[in-house]
Amino acid sequence: MICDNLAVNQKGHLTFCGHDTLALAKQYGTPLYVMDEDRIRENCRRYVQAMKEHFGPEALPLYASKAASFKRIYQIVKEEGLGVDVVSPGEIYTAALAGFPLEKAYFHSNNKTDEDIAFAMDHKVGYFVVDCQEELDAIEKEAASRGLRQKVLLRLTPGIDPHTYEAVNTGMVDSKFGSAIETGQAAQITQHCLGLPHVELMGFHCHIGSQVFDADTFVRSSEIMLTFIAQIQVRFGYLARELNLGGGFGVRYTQEDPFLDVDQEIARLARAMEEKANQMGIPMPQVRMEPGRSIVADAGLTLYTAGSVKKIPGYKNYVSIDGGMTDNPRFALYGSAYTVYNAGKMNDPVALTADVVGRCCESGDIIQKNVSLPATVRGDIVAVLTTGAYNYSMASNYNRLCRPALVMVTKDRSYVAVERESLAYLTQNDV
Ligand code: LLP
Repeated sequence: MICDNLAVNQKGHLTFCGHDTLALAKQYGTPLYVMDEDRIRENCRRYVQAMKEHFGPEALPLYASKAASFKRIYQIVKEEGLGVDVVSPGEIYTAALAGFPLEKAYFHSNNKTDEDIAFAMDHKVGYFVVDCQEELDAIEKEAASRGLRQKVLLRLTPGIDPHTYEAVNTGMVDSKFGSAIETGQAAQITQHCLGLPHVELMGFHCHIGSQVFDADTFVRSSEIMLTFIAQIQVRFGYLARELNLGGGFGVRYTQEDPFLDVDQEIARLARAMEEKANQMGIPMPQVRMEPGRSIVADAGLTLYTAGSVKKIPGYKNYVSIDGGMTDNPRFALYGSAYTVYNAGKMNDPVALTADVVGRCCESGDIIQKNVSLPATVRGDIVAVLTTGAYNYSMASNYNRLCRPALVMVTKDRSYVAVERESLAYLTQNDV
């Protein structure tokens, strides 16, 4: 099994966090997102402990809530002591409703509108991660009109390609995000920021990409950032207090993906950073990281009911499910690999290779190609693993499909965290 919260019971059914997935499908219906609360908490604790141990007590992981944003998740990460990364009024609003202490929130995005900036200040969001000078001036203006001093970090691009996939690479000089160190714009915006009375520069941020499997990429970006911090100190006499290294540790979607020991990688990163800071003659800044995927991905799976099983002799086979790119667009968008099982026939021999496809009127609506399955028939329950990140949060109502319910499980109970959408919900804004 790709994750230790999965197992097979005596009936040959897939279990998740100890729950029979067929029983969950029966109780709550399909398609169904299931999330393992215990696992989310374990993932949170792993980051909190590793960061505090290796970077010191001031270090803090921030949950990148774009990976999965709904009220309950903000309550869980609050209880686990993390901060959050939010990117929109919607995420800020959801966190606020959940009672998340927004002074521990970092507001991202490459285009914060004037309304967004005002909204975030209304909600007393602790930190703005500033993308560019134009945005910085807009924040200064709004803060001045309120007579406050807004804490900010400047997002910089260290000029690094993490070699994952293009849609998630963000640290290169030509990225739409941040201000580039290489072009001199990073130093320029820092100097400008230091002259503004209504913003308080707390430090710098960079995010190089997502699904990164070892600390090396972070070591490279942190060395560039620490060098920048040292140069800025010499040039402007400003010493950055915080260095935020963004998100990115990878997760196992399939057996081929490597295991990653978060504690070990963070320890390695911390050693390399301390060495670099010593070499540059600066104190270690307080470190922030923004894990999203690695907090929630392996804490989720999606259950579907199989419908038509189509065999095209000499060509290929299809197993259609009652969801698709509307609840998981990641294969359609990125060609992402997933592990797919017939959840009720875990011990049956492989009898079929098929593309598992969704119900949308679009041939790109594919969950995974060439899946090995046992004899699969209409009514079987199909499980897609590792769907806790960027599935619910990227879901749509294409074809006027309702988004699935999201059920949380712990070792001893299950409960609905997000209700299934209804047809009335779909039409509620239609005039
Ligand atoms: N911090 C920043 C500034 C980010 O842009 C991101 C992700 C994260 C943190 C969290 O990264 P993570 O730990 O989750 O790798 N929709 C794509 C992923 C887009 C990631 C965008 N930014 C996918 O489904 O793979």
